[in-house]
Amino acid sequence: LAENTVSITVVGASGDLAKKKIFPALFALYYEDYLPQHFTVFGYARSKLTDEELRHTISTTLTCRVDKRENCSDKMEQFLRRCFYHSGQYGSEVDFCELDNKFKEKEDGKLANRLFYLSIPPNIFVDVVRGASRSASSPNGWTRFIVEKPFGRDSESSSELTRCLKMYLIEEQIFRIDHYLGKELVENLSVLRFANLVFEPLWSRNYIRNVQLIFSEDFGTEGRGGYFDHYGIIRDIMQNHLLQILALFAMETPVSLDGEDIRNEKVKVLRSMRVLKLDDVVVGQYKGHTKGGKSFPAYTDDPTVPKGSLTPTFAAASLFIDNARWDGVPFLMKAGKALHRRGAEIRVQFRHVPGNLYKRKFGTDLDKATNELVILVQPNEAIYLKINNKVPGLSMRLDSSNLNLLYSERYPREIPDAYERLLLDAIEGERRLFIRSDELDAAWAIFSPLLRELEEKKVVPELYPYGSRGPVGAHYLAAKYNVRWGDLS
Ligand code: BG6
Repeated sequence: LAENTVSITVVGASGDLAKKKIFPALFALYYEDYLPQHFTVFGYARSKLTDEELRHTISTTLTCRVDKRENCSDKMEQFLRRCFYHSGQYGSEVDFCELDNKFKEKEDGKLANRLFYLSIPPNIFVDVVRGASRSASSPNGWTRFIVEKPFGRDSESSSELTRCLKMYLIEEQIFRIDHYLGKELVENLSVLRFANLVFEPLWSRNYIRNVQLIFSEDFGTEGRGGYFDHYGIIRDIMQNHLLQILALFAMETPVSLDGEDIRNEKVKVLRSMRVLKLDDVVVGQYKGHTKGGKSFPAYTDDPTVPKGSLTPTFAAASLFIDNARWDGVPFLMKAGKALHRRGAEIRVQFRHVPGNLYKRKFGTDLDKATNELVILVQPNEAIYLKINNKVPGLSMRLDSSNLNLLYSERYPREIPDAYERLLLDAIEGERRLFIRSDELDAAWAIFSPLLRELEEKKVVPELYPYGSRGPVGAHYLAAKYNVRWGDLS
């Protein structure tokens, strides 16, 4: 049997994502000996660069994760020697043919596996896939394509993209990435649920009052306004990152941990969800603000954003899953840019303790202190459970305390970046954390009518100051369900 090689091509090599995430993740995998013995990395883009120039650019972004081992700079050198550059037009079969020749040289007759990472704008996805699949597919091994969102702007454009990709590829070759699925605490959701006895029995409408999925960033679009304005926060964060977390959170137990079994369960949950309506959302947009002598720009001050844009930079939404497990339980989502802090978290608020024994005897109102399970996805990864506890002493006083699993204390080793997990899985053919096309369809079906309506009716977003907690409308939305956002309490 011939030895395996893998050629990893980063298409769009001079872009931000490639520099900040993809090359560093590949190096981290190499550093930790996760990459196959025979691998090469190609950067592909239009600009004319030499191999050396590419190596120089990459080298400035590489860091030695984990402990600073002595051989780190040697490892960097070795890694960089396996990096090459190929300049080409995105739609040119001739240029991909030349790349193919370079692959063959490096593969040296071994079994050739090829991975293309499309770190490029969506309008050239199909051109690249056409060129690369026709002219640079592996002759004897696998050829896979990792694609980054946006996968369209709504159901129709997403189906059209899928249709076009499938003219050149089969579904098994397409790895649609959602980098939130590679985050440690998101991956841990299934372990928490299915490898512990104590949570799963409570995981339903019988015990859970509401679930909150919260994303916030403490910076605005800064330079990405051009891309962002075309999509907005609902498409940028909710329809993918938060919805994916929701699906993993709410799905039934899969038949096995096999990628297809897990994705089957996620699709079922998504297909049981109610289609969102205008009443179910609040949209916001940040405005300029001065704080401590420093001034922060409004979204529409970004030179790449059209004046008068109505694109939401904040949204809150209430979603429902119409199945036996979750009937009537609000899943509240909130996502925003230019807020007061950066974080992503899942909050599970449990129902009240029935009977209210402590209120009757001591007047302690536990209604405001229900149990809450909090999963802090980032930063400061942690899982904690709020419980009511007796304050030590002779009087009977209760307070709410946390049973706390703080990752930095329990697992001092640095957590790998999401892209490391996902790149490794793509190389190994593990599809569990990638989005299947039926999953994508189901996700768009929930959001598309709402997105259309927001645009057609030109719904004006509620303004909130840069660096604030977001528009008050989000509180009213939660209050409709008698819920308070956990991140504000
Ligand atoms: C991307 C969005 O998918 O996720 C960005 O397009 C956002 O707008 C980013 O900033 C957030 O990712 P992370 O991993 O930094 O939370």
